[in-house]
Amino acid sequence: MKRFYILTFLTLSISSFNAQKSDNSLKQAFQNKFYIGTAMNLEQINGKDKKSVDIIKKQFSSIVAENCMKSMYLQPQEGKFFFDDADQFVGFGEKNNMFIIGHTLIWHSQVPNWFFIDKDGKNVSSEVLKQRMKNHITTVVSRYKGRVKGWDVVNEAIMEDGSYRKSKFYEILGEEFIPLAFRYAQEADPNAELYYNDYNEWHPGKVKTVIQLMKDLKSKGIRIDGIGMQAHVGLDTPSIDEYEKAMVAYTESGVKVNITELEISALPSPWGTSANVSDKVAYDEKMNPYKKGLPKDVQAQWENRYQDFFKLFLKHQDKIRRVTLWGVTDNQSWKNDFPIKGRTDYPLLFDRQFKVKPIVEKLIKLTETK
Ligand code: G3I
Repeated sequence: MKRFYILTFLTLSISSFNAQKSDNSLKQAFQNKFYIGTAMNLEQINGKDKKSVDIIKKQFSSIVAENCMKSMYLQPQEGKFFFDDADQFVGFGEKNNMFIIGHTLIWHSQVPNWFFIDKDGKNVSSEVLKQRMKNHITTVVSRYKGRVKGWDVVNEAIMEDGSYRKSKFYEILGEEFIPLAFRYAQEADPNAELYYNDYNEWHPGKVKTVIQLMKDLKSKGIRIDGIGMQAHVGLDTPSIDEYEKAMVAYTESGVKVNITELEISALPSPWGTSANVSDKVAYDEKMNPYKKGLPKDVQAQWENRYQDFFKLFLKHQDKIRRVTLWGVTDNQSWKNDFPIKGRTDYPLLFDRQFKVKPIVEKLIKLTETK
C-alpha cells in the first residue's frame, strides 16, 4: 500500500512540474536576470488587440510605448497636451505590475515643428528653445512621477562616426541640449532612471562619444542610469564580439545597459543596419524573398542569432537592466516597412497568427543553465 502512495505522490509531483514548465514564460524565466519587455502599439494600449495583450501580460515584465509618448503626439501644438493614450499605457503597466518606460522626451524625429520656430517661421533663440524643452519635459515627467520608472531622455543624437547629429536641437543649442534635457527630467522626477538611447550603438566612433557624453553628465552631477542599445539588427551585422565590446565599454563608465528595441530581421538589407526612420529605399522584389515564410535554413540561422544574443545578455546579466523586444508579433513590426515599404519580415518572437515561436522555448532553456 505504501508503495502505491509513494508512486502516486511521485506521479503527481512530476505532472505538476511539467504543467509548471508548460506554463513557463519569458517573464518567469528571466525574472532573476533582467526585465524582459516589449513595445506596445495603440491597438494594444487601448485593448483592441486582445490577443497581443494576452501575450504581453503572460510573457513580459516591462513595457514601453512604441509611439504615443513621443513629443509630436503628447504636445502636437505648443501648450496643447494630449495624454489619453499615454495615460492608458501607464495605467495598463501599473495594473499588470510592469516596469514602465517612457519613450522618448527629446528626439530629432517625430518632434512637432513648432518647437523650433517663431511666429515668422524663423529659428527661435536658444532661450526660447530651452524654455520649450523644459516645459515639455517637466509637464510630461511630472505627470508620471513615480509611475514611469525610466525615461529615454534623449534619443539618437550621435552619428556613427561620433559626431553630433545636426538636428535643430543641436543647431540652436549645441551639445548643451543633452545635459539640459537630463537636468529637466531629473528635476521633474528625481527617482526616475534616466537613459540615453541610440541605434548602431556598437560603432566605435559612437561608443566613444556616448561614453564622453555620460562622463560629462556625471561630472555635472546630472543623473544618468543607463545606455539604451536599440539592437535593430540583422542576421550578420553586428558581430556578437563587436556588440559585446560596446556593451562592456558602456558599463565600464558606470551605467547599466538597456537593450531597448530588439528585433532580428531575416531580410536582405540594402545596407548594414540603420534605424534612422528617414532612411528609406524603393521596393525591389529581390529584397522581399520570403513572402510565404522563412526557408528552414534561414529560420535556423535566425534562431541561432537570437540565441547568440541572449547568451551574450545572460553572460552579462549583471550589467543589463532590461531587454525589450520592439513589438509582439511579426505583422506589427516596423521592419515590414523599413527600410523598404511592403515587405514580409519575421523579426519578433510571436508569429502572424499570434502563436509563440519555437525560439521562445529555446530562450527560456538558456536561462536554466546561465
Ligand atoms: O497612426 C498613424 C495612422 O493614423 C496613419 O494612417 C498612418 C499613415 O502613415 O501613420 C500612422 O502613424 C505611424 C506610426 O508609426 C504608428 O503606426 C507613423 O506614420 C510612423 O512614422 C510611425 O513609425 C514609427 C517610427 O518610430 C517613427 O516614429 C514606428 O512605428 C516605430 O516602430 C519607430 O520606432 C523608432 C523608435 O521610436 C526610436 N528608435 C528607432 C525606431 C524605429 O524607427
